[in-house]
Amino acid sequence: MNVLTKPEVIGTIEELRSRLADAQKRIECERAERGEAGGPPRIVLVPTMGALHAGHLTLVRRARSIGDIVVVSIFVNPLQFGVGEDLGSYPRTLEADVAALAEEGVPFVFAPTSQVIYPDGAASTRVTAGAVGSLFEGAARPGHFDGMLTVVAKLFNIVGPDVAVFGQKDAQQVFLVERMLADLNFRPAIEVVPIVREDGGLALSSRNLALEPVQRAAARALSAGLEAAASVAAQGAQVALQAAHARIDAQPLVKLDYLVVVDPQTFLPVGDEHHGPARMLVAALVGHTRLIDNVALDLP
Ligand code: PAF
Repeated sequence: MNVLTKPEVIGTIEELRSRLADAQKRIECERAERGEAGGPPRIVLVPTMGALHAGHLTLVRRARSIGDIVVVSIFVNPLQFGVGEDLGSYPRTLEADVAALAEEGVPFVFAPTSQVIYPDGAASTRVTAGAVGSLFEGAARPGHFDGMLTVVAKLFNIVGPDVAVFGQKDAQQVFLVERMLADLNFRPAIEVVPIVREDGGLALSSRNLALEPVQRAAARALSAGLEAAASVAAQGAQVALQAAHARIDAQPLVKLDYLVVVDPQTFLPVGDEHHGPARMLVAALVGHTRLIDNVALDLP
């Protein structure tokens, strides 16, 4: 692993590519000097929108453990925010993010402007997420997944990673990125890291910063509901849904958007006819803050 004390913060595509090529050559030379074999140094990308929290740092640590050169991208992608969503107020904390990444020994931070990523104002060629892109988060946020996949595709082409690391919290995002890789023959492998939770169970999210203390306490009903569901999953999807509803519906500050059990292979809703691995997804508004969470279920 190539550990530098302070990440290089790079804003342009040309500079990033040239610095990555230099780093790969340097690692290859160092290996040759030590007489070590091994393939070309592996580049691992952790795509983020910044406002990094302990969940992101878990992704970064995973990236460091599997790769030779870690690139963390920080870009608040306007294309994945709808009209009236929180693009303007989305937390932007570049200095603190870079400091946290320095602690993790990350060598490269790619922090482009919108002008660098979308020189013509917006990409007129876009990736479309297909039918699953209009369900759940996609139903609540039309166009969100097209915008997300478009920027992820661009980041893959810009950085050229061998592996890209994503968090399981955004389960639908992970499903759609994996589908895009298969459908469009992108090169990187995807590494999925489990959800990181704060004490009390709330899944870590940059959006938690917007929660008042009382809302934060209320938001714990989501993870409590999922936990209750997982504990009775052996009795089937309907019983699991009832258990989750009982916890979530009891919390008046939590306005449920959807609570559903999906087949991980198709991401389509399933009922009691489904057996084996499944995933329960939940989304809710707490105040103005949209929160999502999910849990794996093993259905009988
Ligand atoms: O999960 C996120 O933070 C974003 O959707 C991603 C993958 C960085 C694309 O903008």
